[in-house]
Amino acid sequence: MGEKNIEYKSKQILEYYRSNRRTWDEFYPSERWVFQKIADEKGLLGDVLDVGCACGGLGAALSCKFPLNSYTGIDINKDAIDWASRETRLQIPTRFTAGDIVCCASKEEYDVVASLSCVDWNIKTKDIISACWERVRPGGYFVSSLRLTSEKGVNNIKKSFQYVNFSGEEEDPEVANYVVFNVKEAMSALSELDPAPTLIGAYGYWGSPSPTAVTLYDKLIFSVFYIKKGTEKPYPHEMAAELRLPLEAFL
Ligand SMILES: C[S@@+](CC[C@H](N)C(=O)[O-])C[C@H]1O[C@@H](n2cnc3c(N)ncnc32)[C@H](O)[C@@H]1O
Repeated sequence: MGEKNIEYKSKQILEYYRSNRRTWDEFYPSERWVFQKIADEKGLLGDVLDVGCACGGLGAALSCKFPLNSYTGIDINKDAIDWASRETRLQIPTRFTAGDIVCCASKEEYDVVASLSCVDWNIKTKDIISACWERVRPGGYFVSSLRLTSEKGVNNIKKSFQYVNFSGEEEDPEVANYVVFNVKEAMSALSELDPAPTLIGAYGYWGSPSPTAVTLYDKLIFSVFYIKKGTEKPYPHEMAAELRLPLEAFL
């Protein structure tokens, strides 16, 4: 059992995401590169589930750029979902749910399950990853950003965390877990997903931790993974890797 995921309550999630990360250009180069790659391969992104969608900015950004059949967002922060539900920019079927993806009853499957800055921003990281993977349709992709290090990783909110209120000066501030994976451990955890992926790809580069984060590292690799599910059961045993990550991460 252990600890539960944090149900983020800070008003700052709504404050920040209702006016940031809402257009394609506001997403990181690594994020844009991965979605472009999937769209190039598949021709369209199809049905998209956004886990930790906040105010749904990714749906609006993707649908201006690529053909989508539908966009579904889930977020543990109710205020963000209430705001997102009033979104009018999307011209495709759209649905928003407030809740924790780990406890979500719907097991509907999607062509792309995206989770940007979410799996490594809460407590039950591996359960969030498994919940996302479970909802990927055969032949579809799980897209997730992960912070990487070549050193020992951390998943301990007492040692590595981020102020959710983005200033760090408020009394009794809410904090998020700031999980960092060792590169090889991340690869190993992803390769053990069930069913096993047929492809694990990643694009990432060195950067400095957010100024609102308190963590053990001076620099990290900010990466976005794209993990493909096989098209048929039994799923094939072969797994390919396409890693555009700094080489020193593996040394
Ligand atoms: C750092 S924000 C990123 C928002 C958005 N994905 C983006 O990249 O612009 C992380 C979001 O994930 C949500 N979240 C964290 N854990 C979650 C969980 N277990 N299920 C659903 N949402 C979660 C938080 O409430 C927050 O809105």
